[in-house]
Amino acid sequence: MPTLTVDGRSVDVEHGSKLVLAIEALGIDIGHRCGGKARCTTCRVEFHDGEPETFTRAEYRKLREAGLLDEVRLSCQVLVEHDMTVEVLKTLQSEGWADTGPAVAAELTPETERLARASLEAEAPLA
Ligand code: FES
Repeated sequence: MPTLTVDGRSVDVEHGSKLVLAIEALGIDIGHRCGGKARCTTCRVEFHDGEPETFTRAEYRKLREAGLLDEVRLSCQVLVEHDMTVEVLKTLQSEGWADTGPAVAAELTPETERLARASLEAEAPLA
């Protein structure tokens, strides 16, 4: 089982768990205002260790559009498949939301395919 460390707390999680749900299971009110569809970026986390090398197309495009590539990852688009250390950046408390957002599915949405960044950049080169 991979070990997930969030804001200094470590827990073993089931291999392949969706990162945003694993964080939520720790009792952290992380945002997921679009319901885990790579649209809102409120589930953003900063990786301190174990950042995956692949992205869903939806995550890559959203991060690029928002100018957040190389800064954060979208935890609704990341599966915990090895040890990871992350910092949660937007929570119910920090943002003053009434709720964290709609329920997030256990599987990746809108698509499950994950690709290397080089492949994604080849699809849509930076201008
Ligand atoms: S981008 Fe909205 S929950 Fe991840």
